[in-house]
Amino acid sequence: MRMVLKHKSLILWLAYVLIVQSYLLISHSKSIIKRLPGYHGDLHFKLETGYVGVGDKEEVQLFYYFVESTNNSEEDPLIFYIPGGPGASALVTFFLEIGPVSSTSDDNNNLTLALNQYAWTQMANIIFIDIPAGTGFSYSETKQGWISSDTNLAILATDFIKKFLTEHPKFKKNPLYIAGISYIGIIVPKITLDLYESNERGDQPTLNIQGYILCSPFTNKFEDFNSRFKYAHRNALISDDIYMSAIKNCQGNFVSTYSANSFCASSLQMYEECTSRINLDNILEPFCDENDPIQDCDNDSYIETWANTDIVQQALHVRQGKVGKWELINQTLHYNQGKNDTFCYSYDIFSSYSYHKKLSTKNCRALIFSGDQDMTFPYVGVEEWITALNVGVEVPWKPFYVDGQVGGYQTKYAENEYSLTFATVKGAGHLVPLTKPKESIALVQRWFNSQPYVSDY
Ligand SMILES: *[C@@H]1O[C@H](CO)[C@@H](O)[C@H](O)[C@H]1NC(C)=O
Ligand SMILES: *[C@@H]1O[C@H](CO)[C@@H](O)[C@H](O)[C@H]1NC(C)=O
Ligand SMILES: *[C@@H]1O[C@H](CO)[C@@H](O)[C@H](O)[C@H]1NC(C)=O
Ligand SMILES: *[C@@H]1O[C@H](CO)[C@@H](O)[C@H](O)[C@H]1NC(C)=O
Ligand SMILES: *[C@@H]1O[C@H](CO)[C@@H](O)[C@H](O)[C@H]1NC(C)=O
Repeated sequence: MRMVLKHKSLILWLAYVLIVQSYLLISHSKSIIKRLPGYHGDLHFKLETGYVGVGDKEEVQLFYYFVESTNNSEEDPLIFYIPGGPGASALVTFFLEIGPVSSTSDDNNNLTLALNQYAWTQMANIIFIDIPAGTGFSYSETKQGWISSDTNLAILATDFIKKFLTEHPKFKKNPLYIAGISYIGIIVPKITLDLYESNERGDQPTLNIQGYILCSPFTNKFEDFNSRFKYAHRNALISDDIYMSAIKNCQGNFVSTYSANSFCASSLQMYEECTSRINLDNILEPFCDENDPIQDCDNDSYIETWANTDIVQQALHVRQGKVGKWELINQTLHYNQGKNDTFCYSYDIFSSYSYHKKLSTKNCRALIFSGDQDMTFPYVGVEEWITALNVGVEVPWKPFYVDGQVGGYQTKYAENEYSLTFATVKGAGHLVPLTKPKESIALVQRWFNSQPYVSDY
C-alpha cells in the first residue's frame, strides 16, 4: 500500500516536472519576420515577433511585435507601448496609430499595408504588446492565468520588460520609456514607478528608465467622466444657463442623472439631451449608434479577417490553437463607464494620481498629450490633475508649430530632476496619432530631443 502511494506521488511529481519544464521550454521564442501578407515585397524595417512567459511558472504567454528604430537603433529610445482597453491588441497601435505600416481595406475587404510616413519607429525602438492574456495572441497555460486586474497587469508588464531586456541585452542601455493610451493611463504610472523602485532596490537587470508617455490618458474613474460637463460647456454643446444651473444645484457631481436633488436632475437631463448623440472620441465627427442595426460602426473587421487567417498567423509565428478567435479589442476585458469587475478582470485601480505624484520626486520625464476634440477623457480633467501635482511651471501654456501652423499648445512643469510636458493637439480626437499623425510625431520627436531644463520650442 505504501509503495503504491509512493509510486503515485512519484508519478505526480514527474508529471509536475514535465509540465513545468514544458512551460520553460516554450516560454520564450522569437522570430524575425521578413514578409507580411498584405505588404508588397520584403518589409523595409526590422520586425521581430515572439512570446515572453510571465507569472510564477511563466504560464502567461505574452505575444509582442518589436520594431527597431529605422534611424539609430543603438541609441534611440526604447518604448514599451500598451494599447488601450484593457484588451486592445497591439495591432490597434501598430496598424492604426504609430506603427511602421498603416492598414486599409480594398474593395474585397482584404487588408493592404503601406509604409506609415509618420511612424514613431523612425525615432524609437518600439515593443507593441498584447497584454494581459486574452488580448490579441496572448494566452495562458493555466485557468488562473486568464484572470487579471489593473494591479496584475502592472506586475505582468514589469516582469515582461525585465525578461525582454534579458533576452535583448543590446537594448539595456537605451533610454527606456513606458507608454500607453486611454484606459492604460490607469496602469502606466504604476509600471513606471515599479521600475524606478526596482532600480532603487538594486534588482537586476538595472533598467535605464527615463520616464513615460501618455496619450489621452484615463486617470480617475470619477473625475475624468465628471470633466465632460465642463468640456461640453467650453465647446458650446451646452448653454451658459444649463451650465450655471447645474453648477448651482449639483455640488460638483455631474455624472449621475439620478440625483436626489430634482433641480440638479433636471439640469443634468438637459446636459444629457445635448450630448448623448455626440461622438465622444471626436466631437466633430459623426455619431455612430451601436444599437442601430442599419449603421455599421465597426469598419475594422478587415483586420480581424486578416489576423484570423492561417497564412497570417504562420507569417507572424503565432502558436497554433492557443487562442480562439483573434479580436482587435477583447470586449470582455474592455472597460466601460459603470462596468464592474467581470469574471476575468478586476478594474481595481480607481485613480493613478498617487503614482504620478510619487514619480514627480524622481529623475523622470513625462509627456502627456490629449486631442482637444476628445470628450472621452477631456483635456479639461487632465489639466486639473496635472495642476494638482503642484509642480512649478517652467514654460507656460503656449503654441507649438508644425509647418508654420499651430499644431497645439503645451505647458512644461519642472522641479529638480522631474519634468512633465502637457500638450493639447489642435483638432485631434481620442486617438491622437490617428487623427493628427504629423502633429503627434513632431510633438514627441521634439520632446525626445529636448534636453532637461532647456525649453527649445
Ligand atoms: C473607418 O471609419 C473612419 C471614421 O468614419 C474613417 O476615418 C476610416 O477611413 C474608415 N476606415 C476604413 C478602412 O474604411
Ligand atoms: C481577397 O479577398 C477575396 C474574397 O474574400 C479572396 O478570394 C482573395 O484570395 C483575397 N486576395 C488576397 C490577395 O488575399
Ligand atoms: C535621426 O538621427 C539624427 C542624428 O542622431 C537626428 O538628428 C534626427 O533627428 C533623427 N531623425 C528622427 C526622425 O528622429
Ligand atoms: C477575452 O479575454 C478573456 C479573459 O482572459 C478570455 O477568457 C477570452 O477568451 C478572450 N476572448 C477572446 C475572443 O479571445
Ligand atoms: C456595479 O456595482 C454597483 C455597486 O455594487 C451597483 O450599484 C451597479 O448597479 C453595478 N453596475 C453594473 C453595471 O452591474
